[in-house]
Amino acid sequence: MIALTTPPRLAPPTTRVRVSYLTGEQADSVHRGRDTDWLADAARDFDGFVADRVGVRERWGVPSEVFWFTSDEHYIGSLVVRHEPPEDDLGGHIGYHVVRPWHRRGHATEMLRQATVIARGLGIDRLLLTVEEDNGPSLRVIEKNGGVHDGRNPDGQLRLWIDTASVPSGG
Ligand SMILES: CC(C)(COP(=O)(O)OP(=O)(O)OC[C@H]1O[C@@H](n2cnc3c(N)ncnc32)[C@H](O)[C@@H]1OP(=O)(O)O)[C@@H](O)C(=O)NCCC(=O)NCCS
Repeated sequence: MIALTTPPRLAPPTTRVRVSYLTGEQADSVHRGRDTDWLADAARDFDGFVADRVGVRERWGVPSEVFWFTSDEHYIGSLVVRHEPPEDDLGGHIGYHVVRPWHRRGHATEMLRQATVIARGLGIDRLLLTVEEDNGPSLRVIEKNGGVHDGRNPDGQLRLWIDTASVPSGG
C-alpha cells in the first residue's frame, strides 16, 4: 500500500489532487455500479469543477460546504457539512464517502472526527447523522465518534447525534 507521509486533512477541494481524485472516484463509481459520465466533464475542466465546489453553497435546500480528505497529492474521500439538516431530517448535518482504494484504513473515522471540529467552529453543538441500518461500516464510523442513537427519520434511516464538544480536537 502507498505510505502517506502527511496525515490526511479535510480541506476545501483543490486542483492539486486532480489525477488522484479522478481515478479514485472512477474506481469507486465503477465498484458501486454508479454513473461515471460526470467524470468525463470533470476531467475536461477540472479547474472549473473544483471552483464550483469551493465554499458554502445552497445544496439540499440548506447552506452546505464540501471538503476533500487529502494527503499531499493523494485524494481519499469527500465530506459535506450542512449547516443544518435537510427538511424532515432526510439526511443529517454530515455526508461522506471514502473512495474504494482507501477503504478500511481508518480514514472515514478520522475524517468524521475532523468534521466535528469544523462543525464546532461553526457553532454546531450537536451533529445529526442519518444512516441506513444495513450500512454497518458507516454506523461503526459514527459510533466510534460518539454517535448516540435517536430513532429514525421518515425514510427509516437511523438517526444518531454527536456532541461536538465531546470529540477530541487533536490528532
Ligand atoms: C462507510 C465508509 C465511509 C467507511 O470508510 P472507511 O474509511 O473504510 O472506514 P474506516 O476504515 O474508518 O472503518 C470504520 C469501521 O468500519 C469497519 N469497516 C469498514 N469497512 C467495513 C466493511 N466493508 N465490512 C465490515 N466492517 C467495515 C472498520 O473495520 C472499522 O471498524 P473497527 O474500528 O471496529 O475495525 C466507506 O465504506 C464508504 O465510503 N462507503 C460508501 C458511502 C457511504 O456509505 N457513506 C456513508 C453514508 S451514511
